[in-house]
Order: sequence, then C-alpha cells, then structure tokens
Amino acid sequence: MTTYSFPEGFLWGAAASGIQTEGTKNKIHESIWDLWHREQPERFFREIGPETVCETYDRYKDDVQLMKQVGFNSFRTSIQWSRLIKDLETGEPCEDALAFYTAYFEEMIANGITPMINLYHFDMPATLQTQYGGFESKHVVELFVKFARTAFKHFAHLVKHWITFNEPIVPVEGGYLYDFHYPCKKDSKLAVQVGFNITVAHAKTVLAFREMGCDGQIGTVLNLTPSYTRDDRAEDQQAAYYADLLFNRSFLDPMVLNEYPKELCELLDKHGLLPEFNADEMAAIRTAKVDFLGVNYYVPRRVKAREAEYELDYFTPEYYFENYLNPTGRFNPYRDNNEILPTAIYDIAQNIQHNYGNIPWFLAEIGIAMDEGSEGNALEDGMIDDSFRTELMVEHLVQLHHAIDAGANCFGVHQWTFIDNWSWINSFKRRYGFYRLDLATGQRIPKRHGQWFKALAETNAFVAP
Ligand code: FCB
Repeated sequence: MTTYSFPEGFLWGAAASGIQTEGTKNKIHESIWDLWHREQPERFFREIGPETVCETYDRYKDDVQLMKQVGFNSFRTSIQWSRLIKDLETGEPCEDALAFYTAYFEEMIANGITPMINLYHFDMPATLQTQYGGFESKHVVELFVKFARTAFKHFAHLVKHWITFNEPIVPVEGGYLYDFHYPCKKDSKLAVQVGFNITVAHAKTVLAFREMGCDGQIGTVLNLTPSYTRDDRAEDQQAAYYADLLFNRSFLDPMVLNEYPKELCELLDKHGLLPEFNADEMAAIRTAKVDFLGVNYYVPRRVKAREAEYELDYFTPEYYFENYLNPTGRFNPYRDNNEILPTAIYDIAQNIQHNYGNIPWFLAEIGIAMDEGSEGNALEDGMIDDSFRTELMVEHLVQLHHAIDAGANCFGVHQWTFIDNWSWINSFKRRYGFYRLDLATGQRIPKRHGQWFKALAETNAFVAP
C-alpha cells in the first residue's frame, strides 16, 4: 500500500451553485431557467425545474454542519445575479439577498470552511435575456460588471477566493449551438459573439476587482479535457487539434495567457464568424490577469477525423471532427456512455504546467455520476453505499498525485457535489452528491463515500494499493 499525501493547506470540499441549491424563495427576478421551465417544463427530466432544490436558503445552517461532517475545509457556490441585484440596470442590491449571502458565508467561515464564490453559473436574469439577448449584448456585459462590483463591495471582506464564470463555454454550446440551454438557438455567429462577450465580461470583472483594491484572489473555472484519438494517424491528430482549439483554447488562452490563439482567429475568419470587438475590449482581455484557474473534469473527449459529410447548415466545432465512443474504453456502469479515464487528470495537469505557465489551479469539479436509482437504499447504519464513487475517486486522485509529484501547481480538489442537486435539463437524473436529497421531505441522507472523504481531508492523505 502507498500513502498519497497532498501539499500543506490543500483545499478539500465540494462545488455547487446558487441556482442549483438555494430555491426560489424571496427571489425577485427570474433567471432564464425559471423562465424556460415555466414555458417548456417538458424539456426537463420528470419536468422538475429549479424551484425544486435543496432549499439552502432556509437550511444553510444545518447544511454547513453537514459539510463539516464530511471534512470540507472549503466550498464553492455561486451568488445568483437574479437574487442579489434588485435593479439590474444600476446594480443596486436587494437587502434580503445581502442578508442571506452574508449569513451563509459567515456561517461557513465560522465553521472553518473557506467560501469560494462564483459569479455566473449559467444563470442569466430572464429579463436581460428577453430584453437584450443576454450575453449577445455588450450592454449586458456592462450590467454583469456592475453586479460583480456590487458583490465585491458587499462580500469581499468575507470572500477571499472569487470566480468570474463557471464553464463559460457551456452557455455558448447549450444556448447557441446544441439546444440544451435557453435561448435554444442554433446560430454560430451569435455563439462566437456570446463567447467573446463572456470573455470580455470576465476580463472587465477581474479589472474591477483589482481597481477596487479587494483583498483576495480571483480566477475562472473551465471545463477542460484533452481530445483523445483512435491512434496516431495524422488526420485524427488534426481532428484533435481543432477540438482542442475550439473547446479548450478558445477560453483558456484569452483567460490565462491573455491572448487569443492566432489559429482560432484565422479559423473564425475563414468561416465568416469573427465577433464584433473594439480596442477597449481587447485591452481588457490583454491586461486582466487571473490568480488561479479552476478545472472541471468528468469525462474524456474522443474524436476522429470526419468520415461522414458535415450536414448541418450552420457551423459547429464538429465541422472539423467526429465524436466517437472508444470501443475498448472503460465505461461507468451507472451512467450511459460515460467513459472513465483517470489519466486525463494527469494530461490536463501537464498541459497547464507546460503550456499555461504552471498557473496555480485546483480541480474545481470532479464528478462521479450514478444515475437515479443506482445507488440503492440506505443500509442499516443509515448510509447509502456508494463505494463505487470512492474507488473511482482514488484512481483519479492517484493521477493527480503523480501530476503534483511531476510539478503541477494544484492546490485543491472539489467534488461535484455536496447534496444531490438539480442539474439543468437533467434535473435530478444524475446523482453526484455526498448526501442524497429526499425530494419529498428535503431530508439529507449520507452516503458512505463521505466518510472516506472526511478521513482524506483530515489527514490530507489517503492510502491505496
Ligand atoms: C457541470 C456543471 C454543474 C453540474 C455538473 C453535473 O458541467 O458545472 O453545474 O451540472 O456539470
């Protein structure tokens, strides 16, 4: 057996988001998720929308105790724009929301849990989407920065780790290419504009944080996976290159290296997709230095060279490759088509180390999905047996440990998620939590993996073969 120890002060905890946990109580504005669910409930698994969640708004005190019981020393959630801000044009806050978030963050801190607070987790206020087109609009970029300034003004004395965006590419993919987020458009030109505007919103937020002289650090969270190919054949390598350029480097380069890859600009130009931009926006992107990066990792991407003709009448990254299922891959038996590849963690770490200046980073989401029903019922000791999750976590953390040994500048691990939560159109289909949520009663039922995690967090080490 080997003992795998982690660097001193390593962060251990979980990630969640405001919209996925708080509930809609006392919220004055709808987000696009409330709006979409009201308009088209059939798009959501079992038609369950974001009003049915963990009710953190009322239960946060008890929940912080549950965090302690599984050893967290840190926790990420997000402030909902549609909750915090009363006047979306001026950025004036809502008093109730100020009181709630202050009490919630103070409760974490009083219990030894460092809050890491994200400002955008897919949750555009609905009226900003319907009135202006959300991040299609430069005006909304400015409104986002006002919201961020309000958050810094009221919470920077408590929160020392800020995140601008969670997975900024996902609203682009979901809302403008593949139809799994509102506004469900399929428009590549808008997709690129939204991606660019989000990057500007990120950059201007980082600059506002510096200008306000806030004490603390600010970064961003990206979902990154290398693209793996069938083998070394040149056309597959080319396919992987494009997938990486479009899915990873499109945000990683401007947010960490402060410049867009030349090849990406050329590609977008070739397809007539360059966004509208001005010198002020480019200057913001060039000068907004982040302190750290968060990385979300779930599954590897598998690509091969295109064999079939590209048939869509609008551009998507798949113009340059085809996705494929690895025929010899190892798959999660509790979730369809969910390949397991722990070595991807090592590859991601190497990429950050060698190509992104070895910037400090943390694993901001690692999630091991078990679909509804697959975890079974609570056993005699009151716990749900999810030892599958622990086994996989061990494998992934062994890879992370190798990467740290090889020089990766990784400072923490957050599992997705704390309590099984509502997750976009999948609603409660996939479970990831340390606790199961009984939807009828709101009861939180512990899973066995939490005990393993507690020992890991307390000793900053685990033992494995
Ligand atoms: C990630 C999201 C998170 C959650 C998990 C399952 O992409 O950041 O909100 O839904 O997937």
